[in-house]
Formats: sequence, C-alpha cells, structure tokens
Amino acid sequence: MSRIAVVGMGYVGLTTASCLADLGNDVFGLDVDVKKTRRLQDSKAPFYEPDLQELLTRNAVAGRLRFTSNYAEAIPSAEFVFIAVGTPMDSTGAADLDNVRAASAAIAPHLRSHAVIVNKSTVPIGTGDIVSEIVRSATGNPAFALVSNPEFLREGSAILDFMHPDRVVLGARGREAASRVGELYAPLGAPVLVTTLQTAEMIKYACNAFLATKISFINEVARLCERVGADVKVVAEGMGMDSRIGASFLDAGLGYGGSCFPKDVSALARSAEQSGAQPQLLHAVMDINNGQPQLVVEKLSNLLGTVRGCTIGLLGLSFKPNTDDMREAPSIALVRTLQERGALVRAYDPAAMESARVNLPDVVLCEDAYEVAEGCDGLIVVTEWNEFRQLNMPRIKGVMRRPVIVDGRNMYSPDELRALGFSYAGVGR
Ligand SMILES: NC(=O)c1ccc[n+]([C@@H]2O[C@H](COP(=O)([O-])OP(=O)(O)OC[C@H]3O[C@@H](n4cnc5c(N)ncnc54)[C@H](O)[C@@H]3O)[C@@H](O)[C@H]2O)c1
Repeated sequence: MSRIAVVGMGYVGLTTASCLADLGNDVFGLDVDVKKTRRLQDSKAPFYEPDLQELLTRNAVAGRLRFTSNYAEAIPSAEFVFIAVGTPMDSTGAADLDNVRAASAAIAPHLRSHAVIVNKSTVPIGTGDIVSEIVRSATGNPAFALVSNPEFLREGSAILDFMHPDRVVLGARGREAASRVGELYAPLGAPVLVTTLQTAEMIKYACNAFLATKISFINEVARLCERVGADVKVVAEGMGMDSRIGASFLDAGLGYGGSCFPKDVSALARSAEQSGAQPQLLHAVMDINNGQPQLVVEKLSNLLGTVRGCTIGLLGLSFKPNTDDMREAPSIALVRTLQERGALVRAYDPAAMESARVNLPDVVLCEDAYEVAEGCDGLIVVTEWNEFRQLNMPRIKGVMRRPVIVDGRNMYSPDELRALGFSYAGVGR
C-alpha cells in the first residue's frame, strides 16, 4: 500500500485516483474546483465514464479514496504526487502550461522529502525540467524525484484502459524513481518502458499525432474514393487486415475531436516549429481534419439544394461515443457552419446534453433521435452511439419533412436506407 495524491480530478486524474485506490493504495484526489471536489466528497462522479461511479463509491466506502481542494491536506503524507491537470491549447496553438505550473508551485511547499512527483498531463518535451525547477526553487528540497508517466487511456473506456494498458511508459533521470513508480503498476502486469524524461514526453505526443494521422489519411482516401467510385469502408477493411497497418483509427467521417488529438497535434507542431523543424505532415493532418465538417455540410447542401431555411437534425454531439465530452467535438464546427448558412439546428446526444446546453445555446435539444427527426429537412449522423444503430428508420422517415441523411460516421448501409426511400450520403462511399 502506498500513499498517493492525485492533483486534477478530470478524466485522467479521477480515473487514476480511483484505479490506484482500487489496487489497494491510500489515495487523496485533489482539485482546485471546489464544486467538483464537493461532488466527489459525496461520492458522485462529476462526468460520465463507464464503471467510474461504481469504482468511486466502492473505494470511498472502503476509506481508500478521499477528496479535497486543500494541498496542505493531501500532499504532506503522499509518497507519490501525480499531476493530472489540463494542458489546453493556447492562442498560438501551443500547450498552455499554466495549470501545470500552478499545481507544481502549490505542491512544492507541502512535499515530503523523497516524494516522487509523477506527471501524467500531456506536456511538451522539456516540461519535466520546468516542474523540477519550480519545485526545487520553492522548497530547496533536492530529495524529490520527477517521473514522466504519460497516460494513454481513452475517454469512454478510461477504467478499462487504465487497468489493462498496452504498456506503462516511465521517463526519469534515475532508475530508482522510475522503478518505485513501476511498483505501483506491477499488479497490472503490463510491460514497462523506462526511458528519459524527454523521450517519455515525446512518446505521448508521437502516439497521438500518429493516430490523428491515420484518421486524416483515411479521410483523404475517402475524398478520393468518392471521385473514383470506390467504397472507403471496404478499403479501410482491406487495409486493416494487413497486420503491418492494423484496423483501428481507419474510420472515415467527420474527423477527430476531443480534448487530446486536436491540441496535441497542434502542440507538437508548435514545438517542432519552435525548435526549427518543419512539421509538414502535422499541418496536413490538421488541415484535412478541419475540412471534414465543412465537407459534410456541403454534401447535405447538395442533397437539399441549400441548407438555408432548412431544419437540420444532429444525431450525437459528443466527440465520440460513450462520453459526454464535447471539447473540440466536430459537432461544434458543424453547428457553427450550418447556422452561418441559415439552417435551424436540432440535436440529441445520449450523454452530452448538459455540455450541449452550455456549448450550443442556439440548438434545439431533443429527448431522443425520433424527436430530433420531427419536421427535419435533413439529418446528420455526428457520433456513432450504439443506440443509433437500431433506429426504426421507417418511423424516422415518417416524421421528417424530407428524408435526407448524411451519415458522418458511415454507420448505416447506403443500400438499405436508399431502399427505404432516403436520400443518403456517407463519407467516401
Ligand atoms: N482526457 C483524455 O482522454 C486524456 C488521455 C490521456 C492524457 N490526457 C492528458 O491528461 C491531462 C488531463 O486531462 P483531462 O482530460 O483529465 O483534463 P480535465 O480538463 O478533464 O481535468 C483537469 C482537472 O484539473 C483541474 N485543475 C486545473 N488546475 C489545477 C490545479 N492547479 N490544481 C488542482 N487541480 C487543477 C481542473 O479543475 C480539472 O478538474 C491533459 O494534459 C490531457 O492532455 C487526457
């Protein structure tokens, strides 16, 4: 059993805190957001994530998981202090490190000797040195160690991913600190890669940039497929059967979104530029992705003649299924474009309605997919939630003003929908 503090109770921090508590450790979760902390003290998960609520309740009841907003309460007893605060994109496209700096400065005065600070936030290469310097100059405590431990979990399967990682990456100056952190992960039985701070930080960015590249690559192939009469879904299937390529992240559609890929690709590109390199591929990846929502609106406009004066329904709003996260979701760019072009937008999402009320105040929010379809001139599939797979399509058609669907996630069979009388367009088919 180790004593652990986790700073930042977002998707990564709360998952880390809950899972480490479940592995038998004594964990304090800390967040500066007092409202969030109060919810957590009442054992209420502040966002939707499968299995999180159960894990939270179980470990709080067992007394292994506590929450506070007070650094003086959480840090002094901790042998390990995880930093999992947000690192959003700043106005230049680089990573904004204000939260990391603030957390490091707040941790410093309370840090016990020989504690290990473990950074889980996704940060530009060299940030480990910045954190070390902040802590060292604030405390004069030379006996702490810093380990970079990038997180690879995915929202929507965060608990599962944390408990069954493909690998654990640990970057450190010395082997001892890395092996102490490695011990925390030992029960998971995952391979552990120990390297330098800089290399660990780079591994995280390189992974996200590569996955984003796969998505933009298949979207570029989709654009070509449409011109030459090929079906990108089958192309991706054929590519995915090649073990050198792999089937994941080859879904053509509205593009990537969320709190990670957009900001991480951009931050890596900015880092590259600042170091004098020319990140041509990363720029192409971002350009293609930014164009996808526009392309989908174009398809709808072609089917309808115009979207001006039309009522358009969106199925899904979150950036991907099984999460309520709408940060950088393609739905936001889609709504903006549709409204700029004079359309009225209605929408439904199984989990993101609360965020939608904040992020999309001018959108009419509905109770379910059937209510969205009522009186619509066109529907766009935005998020591939399972509950949209088995919709009663004749019923949907019955309530729409015009039976037009643009399938931004290639969820449906074009032939089946056309046979039902829909005008249908997918992406790259
Ligand atoms: N969300 C993901 O899927 C994911 C996956 C891997 C890595 N990451 C990375 O992990 C980091 C955290 O991401 P997230 O999605 O969990 O963020 P989030 O925005 O959901 O949560 C961050 C939390 O940190 C808190 N916070 C900010 N400053 C603080 C401070 N000084 N002290 C204490 N708390 C503070 C905020 O109040 C918030 O609750 C980011 O760097 C992100 O890139 C995210």
